[in-house]
Amino acid sequence: MFAATAIDTTNKPAFYNELATQLKALLEGEDDSIANAANTSALIYQMVPDLNWAGFYFLQSDEELVLGPFQGKPACVRIAVGKGVCGTAVDLGMSMLIKDVHDFPGHIACDADSRSELVVLLRDADGVFGVLDLDSPLPGRFDKEDQAGIEKLAAIYVAASSFEG
Ligand code: SME
Repeated sequence: MFAATAIDTTNKPAFYNELATQLKALLEGEDDSIANAANTSALIYQMVPDLNWAGFYFLQSDEELVLGPFQGKPACVRIAVGKGVCGTAVDLGMSMLIKDVHDFPGHIACDADSRSELVVLLRDADGVFGVLDLDSPLPGRFDKEDQAGIEKLAAIYVAASSFEG
């Protein structure tokens, strides 16, 4: 049985390094992309402070993201590329760090409590195929250190998982 261990969160780079080690251990020996997405979102939601949602959206076509495994309240299922924070991340091909979602005109509110959001890309050799999305009820919850840490976790998830068939 895997047991996540509490990590000191005062030093963010050290926190995310330790979380990366725990995620590698959690996914070790398993390549099912859905199971790994479920466990990745569960670990992030359990360990990263002040989140109200953490989960995946996968591209079903060039135009549309569809909800994947997540932790938090039920969420909107389909997001068009170019819409919302998630669809904008795919459209621009970059992570999105939104300090206050009220200042992002296209923000899609799945949970009215969400005030800040971090979206990072899932990419392999063929390009972007989804996003990992974190929401917080605190304005300004995420900074560049969170972005770098979550991008690293997303890369660990992609490397561990098989997306064949
Ligand atoms: N806020 C996102 C939608 C997904 S939920 O936050 C889970 C967006 O604007 O794309």
